[in-house]
Amino acid sequence: MKETKDNPIFKAHLKPSNLYVGGKARNEIDSGGKKIFKLSSNENLLGSSPKALEAIRAQINNLSEYPDRTDKRLQIALSAFYKHKLQVGQFLTSNSGSEVLDLIIRAFLGEGLEYITTNPMFKPYQMFSDRMAAKQVDVRLLDPAYTLNVEGVLAAINENTRLIFLTSPNNPTGTYIPKAILDNFISRLPAHVVLVLDEVYFHFAEAKDYTTALPYVLAGKNVIGLNSFSKTYGLAGLRLGYAYTTPTLAAYVQRLYKPFQVNTLALEAGIAALSDTEFLNKTVTLVQKERLFVYEHLDRLGMKYWKSQANFILIKPEMDAKHLVALLQKEGIMVRPVAGFGAPGCVRVTVGTREANLAFISALEKTYTC
Ligand SMILES: Cc1ncc(COP(=O)(O)O)c(C=O)c1O
Repeated sequence: MKETKDNPIFKAHLKPSNLYVGGKARNEIDSGGKKIFKLSSNENLLGSSPKALEAIRAQINNLSEYPDRTDKRLQIALSAFYKHKLQVGQFLTSNSGSEVLDLIIRAFLGEGLEYITTNPMFKPYQMFSDRMAAKQVDVRLLDPAYTLNVEGVLAAINENTRLIFLTSPNNPTGTYIPKAILDNFISRLPAHVVLVLDEVYFHFAEAKDYTTALPYVLAGKNVIGLNSFSKTYGLAGLRLGYAYTTPTLAAYVQRLYKPFQVNTLALEAGIAALSDTEFLNKTVTLVQKERLFVYEHLDRLGMKYWKSQANFILIKPEMDAKHLVALLQKEGIMVRPVAGFGAPGCVRVTVGTREANLAFISALEKTYTC
């Protein structure tokens, strides 16, 4: 049987283009034997939280049995991480930030409903929402600094709007939304709209006027803060993420939980990682210091880039972005072209260790001609 438009078993809105394909794995790359530096997926170049790894090793022989029936122990650890400002029950946990995002989207969107995005953005907001047959309204961030078009987004809201996706720090631009702007924006949102504030890179932000979703959630606003263990804790391969929101919205989205929501290894590793302050601080200190080092060299090479509050930098080369990616790959440097994230002509590079950053800079120097 072929999939045809008039065959009722196929849903028309489940398009092949709704499939998110992540960045390449290192084994897909031919660097001609050169050491590979993977700077393409905003991972942690220091590896994984040692405490998390220890917790995983301790559980490795316990996989024949199901995990905890609920995510309560992870919720308790998250509540402690947030200094008990947020309570058990206010978190949504799942096997990756992407899966938490999907839960939120499935809870609030459907046919006839709308969502607002602000390209350039993390593509899955649109892909997962399209799978629900919801309608996208995009209000692009404003050039040249990728600032939020507050009035544009507010004007795009109608009675069918349910979700707005904002990201701070934003992927792929690395830019952020200052607190005063968010305060004003959120105070003007109607009650039938939920704001998803994706903050998976929040640990790396150091701008004085940066804010997470926390103050808004504590004030009882319809805001959901989205987080991941992939980046700062170095657990991208494990797949664990969480969100936090008001008790009412959290309890509502939790109705979509499946049996044994979070797997044993992720549950234990997540609890351990949250207490690994040493690894967290080491990671954040490295990224904040190395960001400056990379800027210095990008300035020297005359590259156009955006200052970042995240663990990556968006670059706009004068040459074709895909061509630059291919040239760097030959030197063993993996970076990501981000036209698919709404930033045509741009390349995103993860900030890594000094060794990785130097390898990137020297490969760039070798391949790039302004
Ligand atoms: C902005 C943003 N949100 C969410 C995620 C999802 O993270 P994960 O599914 O690895 O937890 C990512 C991953 O790259 C991201 O960049």
